Amino acid sequence: MNLTIPQVTDLQGIRHIPGDKSISHRALMISAIADGISEIDSCSRAADPMSTLSCIRQLGLKVEDHTGKIIVHGNGRNGLRFSTAPLDAGNSGTTIRLLAGILAGQSFSSVITGDSSLSKRPMKRIMDPLRLMGAHIQGTDRDTAPIKIEPVDRLHGVRYTLPVPSAQVKSSIIFAGLYADKITHVIEKTQTRDHTERMLGLQSKNEDGYFVVDVHPDLKIEGKKFFVPGDMSAAAFFLAAGLIMPGSNLRINNVGLNPTRKRILDIFLSMGGNIKIENERIIAGEPIGDLAVQYSELKSDLELKGAEVVDLIDEIPILAVTSLFAEGLFQIHDARELRMKETDRISAIVNNLRLLGCEAEEYEDGFAFQGRKEYSGAILSSYGDHRIAMAFGIAGTRIKNVTIQDTECVDISFPGFWKELLSR
Ligand code: S3P
Repeated sequence: MNLTIPQVTDLQGIRHIPGDKSISHRALMISAIADGISEIDSCSRAADPMSTLSCIRQLGLKVEDHTGKIIVHGNGRNGLRFSTAPLDAGNSGTTIRLLAGILAGQSFSSVITGDSSLSKRPMKRIMDPLRLMGAHIQGTDRDTAPIKIEPVDRLHGVRYTLPVPSAQVKSSIIFAGLYADKITHVIEKTQTRDHTERMLGLQSKNEDGYFVVDVHPDLKIEGKKFFVPGDMSAAAFFLAAGLIMPGSNLRINNVGLNPTRKRILDIFLSMGGNIKIENERIIAGEPIGDLAVQYSELKSDLELKGAEVVDLIDEIPILAVTSLFAEGLFQIHDARELRMKETDRISAIVNNLRLLGCEAEEYEDGFAFQGRKEYSGAILSSYGDHRIAMAFGIAGTRIKNVTIQDTECVDISFPGFWKELLSR
């Protein structure tokens, strides 16, 4: 479906966002290998975590889906069952990569497939370390999905340094480490989101500037209550909308403020954004707060690189759109990973910026442009990518006659996004 974004004058009131997608996936998977019953409060019902939910059901888990909470009847880490049909991860990189870590340690074979976007994304990054651990795992001849996993007697504990910063790869190895013969050490140069560690009660240590997580195969995982905070990556769209639309005054409650996820907030504040963080508290091991945002005269002059890009990886599309309306130069480097997402996000962002009349420069690991205030409407592709659709939808609230194509892809992370954006 195509949507021409209606003109909005100012945005007021409360906006509701889904539960954190990364935490929802992990809560479902950890519940699936836990001993006993887990209750997941405020789990995201977006298509990606629902792919994880249907995979764990296919693996024999009893899952009750009630309004507000999901109950998973875990049978322990060896209590999963062979699925005759392939497991379908849909569009979800987190589902396929994390689940592969769990399935590598099972006594039965599995096949995990995905949609056409997921089937183009790189899986060598998980297959390499899982093979080092002794797993039998095979993708296509381009190392993409579908991937087939055959049982082995026991995985081996390894010391593995991530070649690319990726929480999905780190988490996949942590899960496989639960099935190993000795301790697994996962090492990262740049710390990525640490939800898996927090939820399993693991600590990351700093050793000579590296972040090291040790996974003991005898780690106890008991069924428990999980609480999923609101998704900062979803909140970022409304923070941006509030910041760029004159007269706006918005509130977003219960947003996850994990330090590995809240860099976008720090950047918006550094641009002169009027955002207040209220009621900060910790629930189930994750920091949470309420955010109040008002229209602000933004200054950009951002040069993003290195670790900063890792912390912002999912927010780059909306940060680029926000910077369209800020004075100054926007530059991003070291962002090659953006080309491996649901679409090649560097080229998708640059193409759409150019269609709006912004002279953006594209380079191999990033892009740059000068922010100004006048742009022209255009028909923009979402590239079937939820974050591209939502980011340029926000641009459409400020620029007349912006049409976004294939808007339904927002369901991947944020069902109801358009209604929430356009409600008063
Ligand atoms: C995620 C990690 C990130 C992120 C993705 C979710 C996760 O991917 O882009 O949306 O839940 O671990 P990478 O690990 O590939 O960087």
